[in-house]
Amino acid sequence: MSQLPPLNVPDYVKHRRLIAWVQQVVELTEPAQVHWVDGSPQEQAALTEQMVVAGKLVRLNPELRPNSYLACSDPNDVARVEDRTFICSAREEDAGPTNNWQDPALMRETLQGLFKGCMRGRTLYVIPFSMGPLGSPIAHIGVELSDSPYVVLNMRIMTRMGRAVYEVLGEEGHFVPCLHTVGVPLQAGEADVRWPCNPTKYIVHFPETREIWSYGSGYGGNALLGKKCFALRIASTMARDEGWLAEHMLILGVESPQGEKHYVAAAFPSACGKTNFAMLIPPAGMEGWKVTTVGDDIAWIKPGADGRLRAINPEYGYFGVAPGTSEFTNRNAMATLRENVIFTNVALTEDGDVWWEGMSKTPPARLTDWTGQAWTPDCGRKAAHPNARFTAPASQCPSIDDAWEDPAGVPISAFIFGGRRADTVPLAYQAPDWASGVYLAATLGSATTAAAVGEQGVVRRDPFAMLPFCGYHMGDYFQHWLRMVDGIAEVPPIFCVNWFQTNAEGRFVWPGFGDNMRVLKWIIQRCQGQAQGRQTALGVVPRHEDLDWNGTEFPAELFEQLTRVDAARWSQELSRQQTWLAQLGNKLPAALQQRHAQLSDAIAACQRALAA
Ligand code: OXD
Ligand code: MN
Repeated sequence: MSQLPPLNVPDYVKHRRLIAWVQQVVELTEPAQVHWVDGSPQEQAALTEQMVVAGKLVRLNPELRPNSYLACSDPNDVARVEDRTFICSAREEDAGPTNNWQDPALMRETLQGLFKGCMRGRTLYVIPFSMGPLGSPIAHIGVELSDSPYVVLNMRIMTRMGRAVYEVLGEEGHFVPCLHTVGVPLQAGEADVRWPCNPTKYIVHFPETREIWSYGSGYGGNALLGKKCFALRIASTMARDEGWLAEHMLILGVESPQGEKHYVAAAFPSACGKTNFAMLIPPAGMEGWKVTTVGDDIAWIKPGADGRLRAINPEYGYFGVAPGTSEFTNRNAMATLRENVIFTNVALTEDGDVWWEGMSKTPPARLTDWTGQAWTPDCGRKAAHPNARFTAPASQCPSIDDAWEDPAGVPISAFIFGGRRADTVPLAYQAPDWASGVYLAATLGSATTAAAVGEQGVVRRDPFAMLPFCGYHMGDYFQHWLRMVDGIAEVPPIFCVNWFQTNAEGRFVWPGFGDNMRVLKWIIQRCQGQAQGRQTALGVVPRHEDLDWNGTEFPAELFEQLTRVDAARWSQELSRQQTWLAQLGNKLPAALQQRHAQLSDAIAACQRALAA
């Protein structure tokens, strides 16, 4: 064993269990030193400077992008690794068929072996953070121990992080222990690589003890443990036990020209435009409408004393997909990215700024791409990785909602679920009731994207957009959702949207982005009992005349195609849904099986009517 460093516990850290855990981890991982992160600007400046000098960060031109940096990863560490993500509940049946499970005792043995001496030559950073406003009754505290300074800098943006957390934690407060290593020990005198990571990766959750162990990756979704690991996988199990919801949802506010305000929570799978939707700017012709942003990725939702479901965004920043983000698609995001940003895997311009595909119509003549090679528009390679990211403070977003830090959360008027479907799923529809809405969310399908390693563009079931993030059995999760509205005075209606239908040439038919406001307005007006629609087997679908077309023209026949419920396609879709639901065995709630039967009957009736 190498000589262990002193703990150097700051006098403001009084939590004996936390100190004992840090000591244990030091003994296991054998770092060269321990740094208790205080979250101060001086610390941020010193860490970034150290990373710039070591060639791990590029300081961007301060005139163009003040206090902003570029990190480029190892090409084998660019996304979440779902096949290396484990839910190690005590019983396999509690993880369910959609999670990778391993016996917790065996997994602990494996991890003990992997973590032994894994931080040699590195600094162990102790990162205290709060998911949710500091001290709020709905917030939860975590402490991440990591050997990655990149993680420290990103956690500082993504969470409320630093010294103030210890005041809330006190001597006994509860925290979720989150242990992370890049898994690359350094020998004495050995130079570090730009982005250390290990070919072996383990992202492990122990739901009963609420612990996270992450080995081998520096990528945000695998390494910033407050986000997917804590705020979704572990929090979903806490929510199940305590009667609330931890969801992969954006939260936005919609204000009508009359000043009436509603909030909606919307779930979309990764890289399906959640950040763009959360920061939507209404199109020309709909100027009186205003959209405000509470969160772009995660919602914690609890029944409020007023009998409504109330949601908070537990995060403090955005870890958004850069490619496709532009002044045209998301002006608010571009304004958020003006300063204090960490970019990962985007391209570097000659004047020290960043660029990615879709940022401008004409790419710069020369760039350094995300792999560090010289790039020109005709070189046949992408300049930025398709899952390139920005990490930016939420407070910098021009559309940030006034109540985004309200510890009581905002009242939810409607839920929206959307996937990436080239056909079959109409532009929008409203489920007839709560259980039908839970059914549509439970059977959501979406084409896979670059946010996770694996084949892209294949439709897979992504129930509630939570497939990679639910910390327990999906059947139990559906049951939890069905029960969530017991005792709720105002049950929010549930809607489905699909912005991604394509024509015969493979082009998107719906303009999307700002024009999604037209659908959002219909949704809000449905909540108020104002907008009409057409009854279909799925529920109520808007007719052309039900949407506000101010400032644009959209042909009625094309709209008819976008909102058609194609009975033949739905018959196939339902049998795929049945195959998926069958995997849940006897944990499939009866109400969902019943909704499936009702929908199948309704579609069969449509087919008979067409044949007659
Ligand atoms: C994300 C994801 O990073 O869903 O938000 O992968
Ligand atoms: Mn996400």
